[in-house]
Amino acid sequence: MNTGIERISFYTSRYALDLKTLAEARGVDWDKYRLGLGQEVMAVPPPDEDIVTMGASAAKPILDELGCEGIDLLLFATESSIDQSKSAGLFVHGLLGLPSRCRVVELKQACYSATLALRMACLSVAANPRSKALVIAADVARYELRGPAEPTQGCGAVAMLVTANPAILALDEACGLHAQDVMDFWRPNYRDEAVVDGKASTRIYLHSLQQAWQHYREQTGRHLLDFSRCCYHSPFTNMACKAHKTLLKEEGIEDKDEEHIECQVGESLRYNRIIGNTYSASLYICLASLLDHASDGLDNQAVSFFSYGSGCMGEFFSGRNIEGYRQALYTAQHRDIIAHRTLLTVQQYEDIYNLTIPRDGWDYTFSQYRTGPYRLSGISGHKRRYEAVS
Ligand code: CAA
Repeated sequence: MNTGIERISFYTSRYALDLKTLAEARGVDWDKYRLGLGQEVMAVPPPDEDIVTMGASAAKPILDELGCEGIDLLLFATESSIDQSKSAGLFVHGLLGLPSRCRVVELKQACYSATLALRMACLSVAANPRSKALVIAADVARYELRGPAEPTQGCGAVAMLVTANPAILALDEACGLHAQDVMDFWRPNYRDEAVVDGKASTRIYLHSLQQAWQHYREQTGRHLLDFSRCCYHSPFTNMACKAHKTLLKEEGIEDKDEEHIECQVGESLRYNRIIGNTYSASLYICLASLLDHASDGLDNQAVSFFSYGSGCMGEFFSGRNIEGYRQALYTAQHRDIIAHRTLLTVQQYEDIYNLTIPRDGWDYTFSQYRTGPYRLSGISGHKRRYEAVS
C-alpha cells in the first residue's frame, strides 16, 4: 500500500524585504546576494506572526477543503519553539478545531525534523489506513543584523496531509541516513539568533549529503539520473545547486551543464529564492515549488529529496508523483500569497527586527499587522493568546 502526501500547502508572512535594498544599505554588491547566494527577497515576520500562526495558516486550506475527520496525529516540526514545554502543535490543534482523539507533539532537530515527522506519519497511516496525519513545519530564520547570514533569513510554514493512497506523492521506503555530532549551526536557549559557522556548515552539509546518498545507493542501486527532479534543503538556493553538483561529481557525470542542473533542480527553488530560509519547512516548500512550476508535468515521475538539519542529521529519500496530482495542488493560493506581500524599507525591517517584547509574562497586546487567517494577539499571565482574523 502507498503512503505519502495527499495535500501540501504553504504560508509565508505578508511582509518581505527586497534584498537589492538590503545590499545597498549594507554596501554589498547586489550580485553577491542574487547570484552568489541565489536569493532575491526575504520574508519578514511581523510581531503578531509566529510559528503557530504560520503553521495554522498553512494548514487551513487543506482543512477547509477536506475537513479534519480521521486526523489522529499532528506532528509539528520546528526549531523556533515558543515554549519549552507545550507543543506548538496544541495551539494549532485548538485554532483549527482538530479532533480531541488525536496525538499531538512537537519535534526538533534543526531543519531536519519535518522529514522524521513525514516518515512517522506514513508509518501511522500504514498501520491504520483509514486514519490521516497532519505534518506541519514552521520556522523563523533569524541571524545577526549585518552579519554574513543576514540575507539568508526568512520565515514560513508548510502543512502536509499524509494518507494511505495519497493524491500527490507516494514515498519510497528506502532512505539513506547520516548522523554526526558537530557544531555548525545552533541556537542556545538564551539567544534569539542562531550561532553559525557559515563556511563549515556548507562543508558539513555536503559531507552529510555524500554519506546519506551513499547509504541510499547501497540499498537501491539507483543513479541520480533515475530521478526526474531533485529537491534539496535550501538555506539559500545556491546551496541546492552546490549539492546537486556534488552528487553529479560523485556519479562521475560532472560534465552536465547549467541547463541540466536548472532542469533537474531549478523549478524547486522558485519560492525559496523569494522567501528565504524557512529551516524545517524549506525542503517541503521546495517540493511545493516544484509541483507548482514543473512545466512538463510529473505524473509517475521519481523525485529525490535531501533533508539536512545542522548538528547534524542528513537523510536522502525519494518518492513518486501520482498520476493526476495537479488536481490536488493549491498553486493559485500559493501564488496569491507571494504576489500580495508588502515590501518593507530596510528601516522598517530593522524596526521589526529590533522590537523587544517584554519577557515578564504580564499583559502585552500586539499591534495588528497584515497576517493570514490567524494572529498572535497578546500575552497575559505567561499565556500566548491567538485569534482568528476576520
Ligand atoms: N557576484 C557574484 N557572486 C559573488 C559576489 C559577486 N559580487 N561576491 C561574492 N559572490 C559569491 C562567492 O563567490 C560565493 O560563492 P561560492 O559559495 O560559490 O564560492 C557566494 O557569493 C557567497 O559569498 P561568500 O562565501 O563570501 O559569503 P559569506 O561568507 O559572506 O556568507 C554564508 C555565505 C557563509 C553561506 C552565509 O550566508 C551564512 O553563514 N549563512 C548561514 C549558514 C548557512 O545557510 N549554511 C548552509 C549550510 S547549513 C544548513 O543548511 C542549515 C540551515 O538551514 C542553516
